[in-house]
Amino acid sequence: MVMWVFGYGSLIWKAGFHYDDRLVGFIKDYRRVFYQGSTDHRGTPEFPGRTVTLEPAQGEVCWGVAYKVSRKEDEEVALTYLEVREKQYDKKAYVDFFTEPSASSPAVTGVMVYIASPDKSNKNYLGPATVEEIAKQIVLAEGPSGPNRDYLFNLEKTLLQMGCKDEHVMKIADNARKLISGVEE
Ligand code: SIN
Repeated sequence: MVMWVFGYGSLIWKAGFHYDDRLVGFIKDYRRVFYQGSTDHRGTPEFPGRTVTLEPAQGEVCWGVAYKVSRKEDEEVALTYLEVREKQYDKKAYVDFFTEPSASSPAVTGVMVYIASPDKSNKNYLGPATVEEIAKQIVLAEGPSGPNRDYLFNLEKTLLQMGCKDEHVMKIADNARKLISGVEE
């Protein structure tokens, strides 16, 4: 059995595992939101950063990439790696992945995706805040994987390279740039 993994955050620009194919495309009925707190990658327990998760959103689409892992050995290594990297994401879902906006049937079915849910058991979930509040938190946060702002700007850049203008991400990035130029001028 071949494994497919959907990435909509840092997995877009850094897989970190061996794969055989990478497709650009989207999943349906979800939106990407900076609602998950990060104390292990882009922030600390004292000052959490924010990373993206998926929120159910009927009729919307979320663009990202799907990685194909064919060999059993690669799958085991990839899963072990991902379970550590994505350990603050409390849910796994299996979704349909599309590459063509006009297609009625998916390019791949059963694509695995990590989601940070608003459930009580997800103690790092932060939830909604204003664009200004989210941007400020991201500009100030830094964790073992680097500054939170690098995550935000990498995400914006790689999405734009794929032709995806994600309004939520772009608004937060614009706000973060304003804060940075104000603070560091
Ligand atoms: C993902 O990239 O698919 C999950 C969120 C992240 O690790 O940034």
